[in-house]
Amino acid sequence: MNVSDLQRKILELKKQNDVCILAHSYVAREICEIADYTGDSYKLSVDASKAGNKNILMCGVRFMAETCKILSPDKKVYLAQPIAGCAMADQMDKQLISQVKEKYPNHTVVAYINTTADLKTICDVCVTSSSAVKIVNNIENKDILFIPDCNLGSYVAKQCPDKNIKLLNGGCPIHACVNPGEVKAMQEKYPEAELLVHPECVPEVCALADYIGSTSGIMDYAVKSDKKEFIIGTEISIAEHLQYMCPDKTFHILSLKLICPNMKATTLVDVYNCLCGNGGEEILLDEKTITDARKCIDEMIRLGE
Ligand code: 13P
Ligand code: SF4
Repeated sequence: MNVSDLQRKILELKKQNDVCILAHSYVAREICEIADYTGDSYKLSVDASKAGNKNILMCGVRFMAETCKILSPDKKVYLAQPIAGCAMADQMDKQLISQVKEKYPNHTVVAYINTTADLKTICDVCVTSSSAVKIVNNIENKDILFIPDCNLGSYVAKQCPDKNIKLLNGGCPIHACVNPGEVKAMQEKYPEAELLVHPECVPEVCALADYIGSTSGIMDYAVKSDKKEFIIGTEISIAEHLQYMCPDKTFHILSLKLICPNMKATTLVDVYNCLCGNGGEEILLDEKTITDARKCIDEMIRLGE
């Protein structure tokens, strides 16, 4: 079966089984093409809660599917490829953060959405890369414990100078691998190009950027910009999607290290198998986890408005 035949079959099965397909912008283009919604982690979590379908199929990583289940507990939520975790989300667990909280009892615990459902149950508010600055600014408390990403946390701290932000040593191993030396080399090679980076990159890389933003933020900026050439400092799929969307512009991948194996783990065949009942994994969370984790996601939606 070729790609278009497989896509046609997926669209038929999706309709028959009342499934809403969500695809994070880091997954392959042929999956984004058959999705009902694509976008960054914040947009997908809101889209999923509004979708009328009985079933949700997440093409992304586990914490995103868990977030959908928390927001839509009455729906069946599936992760298309069960091995797709997030290296950052797996860095910190409830036990570790409970100990840290004892050291900082008066801090508001802000969790990047790239955390497990279990860890969210003991945090005060969630943020995504597109909403973090606004939400942290809207928190009344001055003292913030920001987990797990120290790079996103440093970026937020710079934008929110009135807050006292405590960071831990976590982060995305993919984005954090890019170093300022290779960035400068790319800027010398393409002097006309604007550099757009995700705030999961290290501060020394962010300092060289013309724009810092979430996956959707980077895409919107590039689409709307009058400029014709860009260096894209986030997972390589974004440069590929942009090249399709804007064929008159040129997009360079900042570094070939920017490939997330977890985001690349889901294939169109996985989506098909999951819809046939031969693959994927249903996300099952107990009621208490859903109720407790939901508080910090609801707080994200309230403070992000
Ligand atoms: P966004 O919040 O920008 O979608 O990013 C999610 C992610 O995993 C980035 O590495
Ligand atoms: Fe997680 Fe990094 Fe992959 Fe995003 S790019 S899913 S933060 S490992």
